[in-house]
Amino acid sequence: MRHGLFITLEGIDGTGKSTQLRLLVQHLKKRGLAVRVTREPGGTKVGERIRKILLASTTTRLAPLAELALMYAARAQHLQEVIRPALARGEIVVSDRYNDASLAYQGYGRRLGVETVLAFDRIVCARTQPDLTLVLDLAPRISLQRARGRQSQRKSNQERFERQGMIFYRAVRRGYLSIARKEPARVKVVRADGPVAEVQARIRKIVDAFLARRLKNTDNLPVTSRI
Ligand code: TYD
Repeated sequence: MRHGLFITLEGIDGTGKSTQLRLLVQHLKKRGLAVRVTREPGGTKVGERIRKILLASTTTRLAPLAELALMYAARAQHLQEVIRPALARGEIVVSDRYNDASLAYQGYGRRLGVETVLAFDRIVCARTQPDLTLVLDLAPRISLQRARGRQSQRKSNQERFERQGMIFYRAVRRGYLSIARKEPARVKVVRADGPVAEVQARIRKIVDAFLARRLKNTDNLPVTSRI
């Protein structure tokens, strides 16, 4: 039986997603909710090892299908070890990326197509789908500028960006926007331009409205003080 709520954050590289996720989690914890923060690819020991393979600059010419299969291998482990148990405990799971990233990056960016990704998804994720997905949206031209302006710790991000190129990121963005059009109730597009606080305010507004709807009549979500 599933009781918790599953929120995912998505967007092309360089939209400020990780910063926004951190601030959102602070907000949720302040509200006294039990939050489990995680990320993909990764989130488990095996998943983090797979992540290294996927993101290493030395990993060249990974076949798109190999890349997709590795994403879903990491996801299967993540679901079993982290996501499903946390949802079963009634927690709010907040994940930095999940299956929409595979649709956008592998389905659209790598041109594998939506059906191929959904075939994996039906087997691996099955009914464990996000309840709310925030897509941080920014033109690739601007997110590349942001990645370039960053300190050396984010160098890998910039390198990844340069390697994939603008055409790839335009396709990924198109993918996210098309998912949002198909599932407007679940997927909300958030403009990621402007100051951090402004973007965070947009996010909180959406999340608070979502929680108000979903927490109504349910007192089965544990608050941190109770666990
Ligand atoms: P991310 O963790 O957001 O990067 P970082 O935190 O280092 O900035 O994402 C890692 C990369 O993996 C990113 O380019 C998106 C990509 N990715 C996919 O291509 N498919 C997927 O299913 C997932 C989860 C990520």
